Amino acid sequence: MKAICLRQFGGPEVLEYHEDFPIPVPGDQDVLIRVKAAGVNPVDWKIREGLLQGRLPHTFPLIPGWDAAGVVEAVGDGTNPSSLKPGDEVYAYCRKPLIQQGTYAEYCTMTMDHVVRKPSVLSFSEAASIPLAGLTAYQSLVDAAKVGAGQTVLIHAGAGGVGGFAIQIAKHLGATVITTGSAEKHAYLCALGADVVIDYTAGDFREAVSQRYPDGVDVAFDTVGGDVQRASADCVKSGGALVSILALEHEAYVRSRGVEPLYVFVAPNGPQLARLASWIEQGALKTRIAGSYPLQEAAEAHRAIQTGRTAGKLVLTIDG
Ligand SMILES: NC(=O)c1ccc[n+]([C@@H]2O[C@H](COP(=O)([O-])OP(=O)(O)OC[C@H]3O[C@@H](n4cnc5c(N)ncnc54)[C@H](OP(=O)(O)O)[C@@H]3O)[C@@H](O)[C@H]2O)c1
Repeated sequence: MKAICLRQFGGPEVLEYHEDFPIPVPGDQDVLIRVKAAGVNPVDWKIREGLLQGRLPHTFPLIPGWDAAGVVEAVGDGTNPSSLKPGDEVYAYCRKPLIQQGTYAEYCTMTMDHVVRKPSVLSFSEAASIPLAGLTAYQSLVDAAKVGAGQTVLIHAGAGGVGGFAIQIAKHLGATVITTGSAEKHAYLCALGADVVIDYTAGDFREAVSQRYPDGVDVAFDTVGGDVQRASADCVKSGGALVSILALEHEAYVRSRGVEPLYVFVAPNGPQLARLASWIEQGALKTRIAGSYPLQEAAEAHRAIQTGRTAGKLVLTIDG
């Protein structure tokens, strides 16, 4: 099969394109997916550079990629016969305990529980842009911070893959959304439903938040880390929560402000992915493809995601 693989860690040039990779064999509980499109996420370049080595086991040759949309090719012998069957159009967040057999390939496998029907209204490329970033936003706002109607939420990097879904999910839950982005992203952020947009390049975002919400917001969602995480704690009211998807470097400071620090590392979750699909089909959640690349051009896609400036999502498309 066609696949992108790494034989060593390094820059985008270590992404090799091959056409003779063996097709993975599905385990008893697995689905074999013929991948039509694979999502590209910042974690993919972090894995390529070896930054997750201390956290998850890796084996070379390594096919990167955790997001897939495609068609069921085969199912394992132990799977529920009334669930998915060959020919079904599906999408999935395919993170496994071992980093080796990813989604930048013509075929990938995943435990059937984590594979669900793709939203009927989306193309494969659009569907592939959703699982990792959509589940991250869901697990951060719904599971961790328990955002509800009437609350105010500060969402950083609203134009990013995660931030874009987070704005829409928070609005769907009935919250008021304040978000950050550079001026060129403001029209996009308003179109996503943000109530207040702050140009973080024009000054300290804390001032803009405190002008509108002197007592602070209920929840801050940190998708940037570092100084942004620390400063975000100053924007949350005492008793509120700060949920981060980056290392909780400023946990002690966050606590000292009377704010609960929460960390999320997104986990595969089929029922939640099915819920996101239903929200998409109802029109409550949309995705924006910022760039689409053929599989062979994975290195270009990595250069683009690594800028940290994309508005929306990047995907790889796979013929065959
Ligand atoms: N823990 C987890 O499970 C998990 C899951 C998903 C992602 N992550 C991590 O979360 C981060 C965000 O992921 P992503 O997919 O959303 O990234 P992304 O799509 O690459 O984010 C790009 C966006 O970030 C904005 N941005 C960059 N710096 C900013 C700042 N200081 N303030 C406001 N906006 C800023 C950019 O807007 P401008 O051009 O306007 O600056 C751009 O639109 C990454 O580091 C990723 O690895 C963690």
